[in-house]
Amino acid sequence: EHSRTPYESIGGEPMIAKLVDAFYSRVAKHPDLQPIFPADLTETARKQKQFLTQYLGGPPLYTEEHGHPMLRARHLPFEITPTRAKAWLACMREAMDEVGLSGQVREEFYHRLVLTAHHMINTPEQDR
Ligand code: HEM
Repeated sequence: EHSRTPYESIGGEPMIAKLVDAFYSRVAKHPDLQPIFPADLTETARKQKQFLTQYLGGPPLYTEEHGHPMLRARHLPFEITPTRAKAWLACMREAMDEVGLSGQVREEFYHRLVLTAHHMINTPEQDR
């Protein structure tokens, strides 16, 4: 008898898709984030759906298409400040609220995202 992965517990592909779409509609409007993201977020969202699927224990969709995530290295071209990490996490919390992701599985997922987001910071706070 196999224990459910977080991917299964949150509702699999349909939930990841709703969550990522709700997330990037906020990113597109956020004053701290919008300047460093492409205007068309279609491809970014597609990759994030693949990534979060495997991050939560689902099929390794991101790695199959793009190789090892090396997330910190892939973020080095962008100035990820503490303010931007906070903004990213705020967009994610709001997206989780919007799609009705709640309970312990949300708390554990969000906690991992906090750690990963902090790991992405590569630039000290700047005057803007
Ligand atoms: C890509 C910003 C945190 C996963 C990107 C891109 C930007 C960005 C600007 C490039 C988008 C594009 O060109 O398509 C940020 C900022 C973060 C953050 C400001 C704040 C800490 C995270 C976290 C995760 C993540 C926590 C995972 C849990 C990804 C993935 C991609 C990506 C999977 C696509 C990589 C690829 O091109 O293959 N991010 N990110 N990011 N980010 Fe983040």
